[in-house]
Amino acid sequence: MAHLLDEQGVLHTADPRGMMALTLDFPSQYERAVAIALEWRLPALPREPRLVVVSGMGGSGIGGDYLRALFEALGNLPVLVVRDYHLPHCADDHTLLFAVSYSGNTEETLACYAEARARNAMVVAISSGGELQARAQMEGIPHLQVPSGQPPRTALGYLLLPMVVLCERWHLLPNLEQARIRTLQRLVQGRDHWGISTPYEQNPAKQLASALHGKLPLLYGSGSYRAIVATRWKGQFNENAKQHAFANTFPELNHNEILGWVGAKQQAKNFAVVALRDPDESIQTRTRIEVTRQLVGDAADWHEVWAEGESLLERLLTLTYLGDFVSLYLAYLNGVDPYTIDYIDRLKAELAKLMNRE
Ligand code: PA5
Repeated sequence: MAHLLDEQGVLHTADPRGMMALTLDFPSQYERAVAIALEWRLPALPREPRLVVVSGMGGSGIGGDYLRALFEALGNLPVLVVRDYHLPHCADDHTLLFAVSYSGNTEETLACYAEARARNAMVVAISSGGELQARAQMEGIPHLQVPSGQPPRTALGYLLLPMVVLCERWHLLPNLEQARIRTLQRLVQGRDHWGISTPYEQNPAKQLASALHGKLPLLYGSGSYRAIVATRWKGQFNENAKQHAFANTFPELNHNEILGWVGAKQQAKNFAVVALRDPDESIQTRTRIEVTRQLVGDAADWHEVWAEGESLLERLLTLTYLGDFVSLYLAYLNGVDPYTIDYIDRLKAELAKLMNRE
């Protein structure tokens, strides 16, 4: 008998608004995003940036973390990601600020945009439209428009690649063209390996989702950029599969969360660890993971997924892409529509009422 995730018509019932189609389109989106950024009329930076700040929330903020990972490995500037209404005190006229909101209407991002303008920071706005676009156009601020019409969390290509390519074009990052080409090839391979038409027996994304079904996933990044990817997996599990998942990272979790495993057996029977790993981990990290696995023991299932590729960009995005598929299969198994985000919509509506009253 076919596995549930291989059944004919599974998308029709489990995914009526086409999140799988959007996810399968990700490699093409990535290509379009690079093209948009390469063609965009690049404004000259009036001053030398000393700090890069990315302001964005949820699906629009995570791209800032990915940019930070690239700068940490390859650039010479600090990057801060602000997920709040206010910029840090140090943000000034030598700050390059990316205000990123897929809808263009997120109030925290609009507030940071306004603060950055007041401090004469060098601002670039990225959105598919909305208030952010309207304000940027009215105020003569560079605005990069990305295609609209999909949930922000499926638009990571549009929300990340422009920042990367613009930083390359400003020589704030080295030229990543070769890495970008290889990343695209890997994403295409990932799509074919993890997509819905690859049967369960050959599909690690379907297998991992089945193993996690009914469990509480603890997503452990093995340090560095895997901490960020673990956070992305968590967000995708939350928003697509409508379930809790928690993310942490080595080595930090060896200094606190590791003690939680002492009482884990009494707390819950359904934990599952997914360790997000990299082939070049240090001996210290490998040892930490091995000892942690022994300490977790039979208190939880333990799964490992490995980043692949030569460059950081390949490893970042392929590990991310696998998590996107796992989250969709989990949504199907949980019997929830991965597209809807009712609670987020409700919160935004309540906050909008508050703004209108002021
Ligand atoms: O995935 C989502 O829909 C959310 O996390 C949004 O990205 C978040 O609420 C911010 O909205 P926007 O991306 O439109 O700025």
